[in-house]
Amino acid sequence: MPDPFYITTPIYYVNARPHLGHAYTTIVADVAARFNRMQERDVFFLTGTDEHGDKIIRAAQKEAITPRAYVDKISGLFRDLWPQLNIDYSAFIRTTDPSHIAVVQQVLQKIYDAGDIYFSEYEGLYCFGCERFYTERELVDGKCPDHETPPEIIKETNYFFRMSRYQEWLVSHIEANPDFIRPERYRNEVLSFLSEPLEDLCISRPKSRLQWGISLPFDDNYVTYVWFDALLNYVSALGYPDGPLFQKFWPHVQHIVAKDILKPHGIYWPIIQKAAGIPVFQHLNVHGYWNVDQSKMSKSLGNVVEPLELKNVYGLDAFRYFLMREMVFGLDSGFSETALVGRINADLANDLGNLFSRVIAMAHKYFKGVVPHPDPGVDPELTRNIRADAISAVRDFEIAMTSFAFHKGVMAIWEFISRMNKYIDVTAPWVLAKSKASTRQLQTVIYNLLEGLRIVSGLIFPIMPDTSASMQRHLGEDTEKPYYQLLRLKQWGRLPSGNTIPKSTTLFPRIELKPKTEDAEVSEPVIPEPPVFKPEISIEEFRKVDLRVARILKAEPVPKARKLLKLEVDMGEIRTVVAGIAGSYTPESLVGKQVIIVANLQPAKLMGILSQGMVLAAVEDHHCTVGTVETVVKPGTALS
Ligand code: MSP
Repeated sequence: MPDPFYITTPIYYVNARPHLGHAYTTIVADVAARFNRMQERDVFFLTGTDEHGDKIIRAAQKEAITPRAYVDKISGLFRDLWPQLNIDYSAFIRTTDPSHIAVVQQVLQKIYDAGDIYFSEYEGLYCFGCERFYTERELVDGKCPDHETPPEIIKETNYFFRMSRYQEWLVSHIEANPDFIRPERYRNEVLSFLSEPLEDLCISRPKSRLQWGISLPFDDNYVTYVWFDALLNYVSALGYPDGPLFQKFWPHVQHIVAKDILKPHGIYWPIIQKAAGIPVFQHLNVHGYWNVDQSKMSKSLGNVVEPLELKNVYGLDAFRYFLMREMVFGLDSGFSETALVGRINADLANDLGNLFSRVIAMAHKYFKGVVPHPDPGVDPELTRNIRADAISAVRDFEIAMTSFAFHKGVMAIWEFISRMNKYIDVTAPWVLAKSKASTRQLQTVIYNLLEGLRIVSGLIFPIMPDTSASMQRHLGEDTEKPYYQLLRLKQWGRLPSGNTIPKSTTLFPRIELKPKTEDAEVSEPVIPEPPVFKPEISIEEFRKVDLRVARILKAEPVPKARKLLKLEVDMGEIRTVVAGIAGSYTPESLVGKQVIIVANLQPAKLMGILSQGMVLAAVEDHHCTVGTVETVVKPGTALS
């Protein structure tokens, strides 16, 4: 059995709504989790919210609600957002969970008993935004580098964690484990920081100043510094110290953070672990910032991008794809909708989408949609190169994804897509189709292309899970089974011959941008003017209508009725539906289409046939166009 895999995101502060930056880190963790599932590992994926401290109190005061009501509200926003981005986490931790609080107190007591926490008076430069003391050396022009505000001088008695005692150990641990902090630039940054003497960390705040925190177990007049509390979420969520999840997953932990929180993760956290006797994490994976107009996207700068808005306009998989392809993990990236649309049109609509529809269309044209048998008797060259390309794509993908080089993983898939497009040009199936003598070659070429699509659809699983499943369904693979296992993708020739596949659908429609106007920030996608609508209805009224996706299995004319067609459809169950679309469609052209049916309409007899539903269609000047769904979904899937 391969090793388990444990992946974490930072736990996000609840002083602001989730934005693209949070979504990026959490999607990266989801991609890493899914990739590890492809390798048949048991995966535990943790995310959550960081809910104590000054910041939160101030945000709650602004909204004039209690801290408890405030943290519940914003934490809920994060928790509800992730499933909408297809983020499949295993657990969501909140630092206000009683089980987390108990672990923090237990670890504090342990370190205190070991003599690594002491009480002392301290006067220092404190940034309220960061909730920490700064040394002169860390300030830029006398100001906090993050908030660009001067820190205040504070004199207090507090508890301190003897980090200095562990400085040498940490340096040698980082030097002995080159991948401990990656990419290398961040490892170097931490080492450079550690080249100066490390100061002890103030880990308490007097309750006279702040109550919203975890009380120190050895002094009830103080609460715990928010970072000391937050970092322990990674172990408390697994039931540290004795829980079975902790035993199983902790030895395989990998963290993901952006460079803003490198210091707490690269310095405080390993030292806390060492002092508490917790085995130190495996890897800290650090990425750069999404910038808008050269500045880090952040609530305080007011330049945040809402992930749900992008999803709603461009589609979830296109959005996830863009994030993974555009950012070189570790470096900063600029976000713009123009770049997003560029990638959708070039990589998704053009390269992948066209390949998919071209291959499926050829399978229909030459073999009536039946997956042909590859013929082992034909020139082995016809298969050798494309198979070798597939194998090296899977290998390059695996190497890149294992080392968190996601953009390279995506590039390995797209390299294979481009090889497949070239394979079509070189083998020219339309020429092979002209002569009976080359039927066996044609069978082999089309089979190889469909097999290539199977492999592409498996490889895109971590990045675009919906498109992956929809391509697989189209090819007749059972999406309930783990079709995306890397092992299966490494084996050429698994796609069974003889299945009939539906006609092609558009995976990614092209997006046209309105030309940029002088004062518009980005070009806007063209959305047509809405026509005049009927009076509004409530959502409850709308929900009464049960809309389902149905695949047309058979279509035939209704005798003596010029406009009617009798359809046999699969919508989870087989039904007969009579539709007035004969003027716009031949029966054959409808077979295989996925249409939308009103499933709970009272059955009605039309020309003596009982119609058990109604097909939705756009009617324009007596011409009907049936409504279809863009990608292949299970028959009977509800529309909502
Ligand atoms: N609560 C702490 C983390 C504690 S972890 C034990 C915190 N929270 S945060 O809400 O500020 O989240 C910071 C993280 O959000 C970054 O490390 C990164 O993962 C993500 N990002 C926030 N803005 C971002 C960008 N503009 N670009 C990329 N990632 C961004 O720090």
